Amino acid sequence: MGSVLVTGGAGYIGSHVMAVLAGQGRRCVCVDNFSNSSPEAVARVRSLAPGAIALYEADIRDLAALRAILAKEDCASVIHMAGLKAVGESVEFPERYHDNNVRGTQCLLEALHDSSVRRFVFSSSATVYGIPERVPLDETAPTRPQSPYGENKLEIEGVLAGLAAGDPAWRVINLRYFNPVGAHPSGTIGEDPSDIPNNLMPFVCQTAAGRRERLAIFGADYPTADGTCIRDYIHVMDLADGHVAALRALDSAADGEVMTVNLGTGRGVSVLELVNTFERVNGIRVPRVYSDRRPGDVPVCYADATRARRTMGWSARRTIEDMCRDAWRWQSRNPEGYATAS
Ligand code: NAD
Ligand code: WQD
Repeated sequence: MGSVLVTGGAGYIGSHVMAVLAGQGRRCVCVDNFSNSSPEAVARVRSLAPGAIALYEADIRDLAALRAILAKEDCASVIHMAGLKAVGESVEFPERYHDNNVRGTQCLLEALHDSSVRRFVFSSSATVYGIPERVPLDETAPTRPQSPYGENKLEIEGVLAGLAAGDPAWRVINLRYFNPVGAHPSGTIGEDPSDIPNNLMPFVCQTAAGRRERLAIFGADYPTADGTCIRDYIHVMDLADGHVAALRALDSAADGEVMTVNLGTGRGVSVLELVNTFERVNGIRVPRVYSDRRPGDVPVCYADATRARRTMGWSARRTIEDMCRDAWRWQSRNPEGYATAS
């Protein structure tokens, strides 16, 4: 069986995907420029899993580097996770985001063209749906991204559809992630934001650890049961399993097939429920304060996860309790993330 080319493999989701693949004995070829990650993450994955991981420090916009890697390695498929992901930053620097995310993907595809790799799994996002007309969101819901980052994801999905239409040797799965949280149950790898966290769970963890004074809950006057926003939090290990299921689904897919699949649990959880669960399962306080709504926040967003079950035989298994417990284990064992000595 050929190796899996994993772009962005040193990142939060990539490291967990590689831990699962390598845990099953699959060889991974990781390509990352470490713009938002550290080689230490890959070293830790290696310590967890017996499968081999080849690591290349390279930018996906470097065609010559990608060609050299593909010529050397025997890859059968690609999981493309490399990208910039901060929604606010994408509004500030749309050209930078387009160049890294869209042109980067086009460059990767150009390099793959000269190789035998024709199976492609892409990290898309539920952010492509924008403000939902109704929930749960299934994959046929209208797409109306609200940021350059979301537009990048949709544009890349379009590029991949065009690719498979022009050359049916390709088989593609776009995975639209909802809200990945949590960490590997060992506490060895996890999410390590380089700056002040934008996302809820890392902020909760850093507040519990005392690195931040208190969590601001953005809005308590939404039309939900407790007034706080509702999201579909999914354990990163379930998400990683979803990538293995996607690779399997590509094996039995028809040539030229392009599938778009939500990766979510199908269950909505409020900000308050998540924070209270975190306190309960970890026996630790998370000081919080209610503050204004965050501009652009959608009140309620969760997946219809039916297609993932039907087409890939995959469903999320882990609970909100698991997500909170595993996120805290990672945080408490690595208070400074990968900068902490292991
Ligand atoms: P991350 O920033 O931890 O990982 C992305 C990785 O890609 C990093 O290691 C980074 O160094 C690398 N990278 C970025 N640009 C690169 C380039 N030009 N060349 C080579 N490497 C590059 O982010 P993550 O949370 O692990 O997200 C992985 C993917 O999933 C991204 O594409 C992201 O948009 C998507 N996604 C993430 C979420 C989420 O909430 N975390 C939700 C939906 C989709
Ligand atoms: C979740 C809830 C906040 C922080 C974003 C991106 C999306 C996707 C995932 C990549 C919201 C509330 C948060 C805090 C809070 N990424 N919150 N205090 O907004 O669903 O999605 O990340 O594709 O594109 O937009 O996730 O974790 O930022 O917020 O009250 O300090 O937590 O208002 O209701 P979101 P999030």
